[in-house]
Amino acid sequence: MSSNKPIYVTSPLLPDMPDLLADIESIFLRKMLSNNGPCLLQLKQELQRFLNLKNLALLNNGTSALYASLLALNAEPGSEIITTPFSFVATAHAITAAGLKPIFVDIDPDTYNIDANAVALAITEKTAAIMPVHVFGNPCDLKGFEALSQAEDIPLIYDAAHGFGVEMDGNSLLQFGDMSILSMHATKVYNTIEGGAISINSVGYQKDIDCFINFGIVDALPKYFGMNLKMSELHAVVGLHNLKKVEEEIKNRKKISDRYLEKLNQIPGFKFQLIAPHVKYNFSYFPIQFTNNLKGRRDHFINVLNEKNIFPRKYFSPLLSDLEMYAVDQSLTQARNVSENILCLPIYSELCFSDVDKISELLIHTAQVLEDV
Ligand SMILES: Cc1ncc(COP(=O)(O)O)c(C=O)c1O
Repeated sequence: MSSNKPIYVTSPLLPDMPDLLADIESIFLRKMLSNNGPCLLQLKQELQRFLNLKNLALLNNGTSALYASLLALNAEPGSEIITTPFSFVATAHAITAAGLKPIFVDIDPDTYNIDANAVALAITEKTAAIMPVHVFGNPCDLKGFEALSQAEDIPLIYDAAHGFGVEMDGNSLLQFGDMSILSMHATKVYNTIEGGAISINSVGYQKDIDCFINFGIVDALPKYFGMNLKMSELHAVVGLHNLKKVEEEIKNRKKISDRYLEKLNQIPGFKFQLIAPHVKYNFSYFPIQFTNNLKGRRDHFINVLNEKNIFPRKYFSPLLSDLEMYAVDQSLTQARNVSENILCLPIYSELCFSDVDKISELLIHTAQVLEDV
């Protein structure tokens, strides 16, 4: 049943309270609240099983995971990391925090990801790593990046912040690259409220990451530079409970996504992200791009929805390459076009079909009105 409550772009997956509270009580009785406690170790094991990964480090958030993975490169200060301008700001900020420089390349207009050919052209002797983002959980050209990384002997770190549960030909998206990082923030398909992870796929990085996450301590002594990037027991226990519900969440999101597509797919001027057919997707976002005669009219659609208490988000706008601190004199035409015309519509398990229909009808009606003007 549709109601007049505000509808936001997402709503967090939450554990069942009585079960969670009982486990929180156990944590408090144990009095071990952080530092590799039993909940964290169990979560690590269960996530590795669920995502079919061998080696997962758990951290306090996805930005820390990016930062730690970049520090583990031990690159010369000022080295370059090739990435996308069409991402959340954390991608570029983590590069800066690690003393490195983001180099932006343009995106593919259909998948919204950077491609290996564009990256190849941007490689210089200063390149320390390639860091593509699987935008909205849509897998990048994994084979292309793997080949490029090997041919150029440059490490590959995927920002897979949105990629929980996504599979490519039966393989977890996080298995790819030397490292892949995940965000488990409350806004993601699967969350630990705040949380992040690194799938360490090339064993060489393991020791450095364990060390950076925990103040640079080795054998109980602070030996190297490090930070406190640990996940607490309370976050881990939320993760354990949410893991029981995430498959259902993804299943329900698929139904919402199918319903939007059923209503909107054939409408001229509406374009949707291209996801390859052999991808098992997680439906983490539902982006719609305004094209042709609807290009440049995004704010009009937002105003119409906001008036009805519906709050989609301009992900990702502005481009990272347009922020004052990263401003570069590059055209990045495709990224700019997508960034200026994209809107992520509400999608989450509890969103009811009547609300999806209402949102779709408002969009269709607005498109018709704009057409007639
Ligand atoms: C592409 C991308 N990378 C990194 C992050 C950072 O993750 P976190 O919010 O867990 O720090 C986000 C967060 O939304 C993101 O969208």
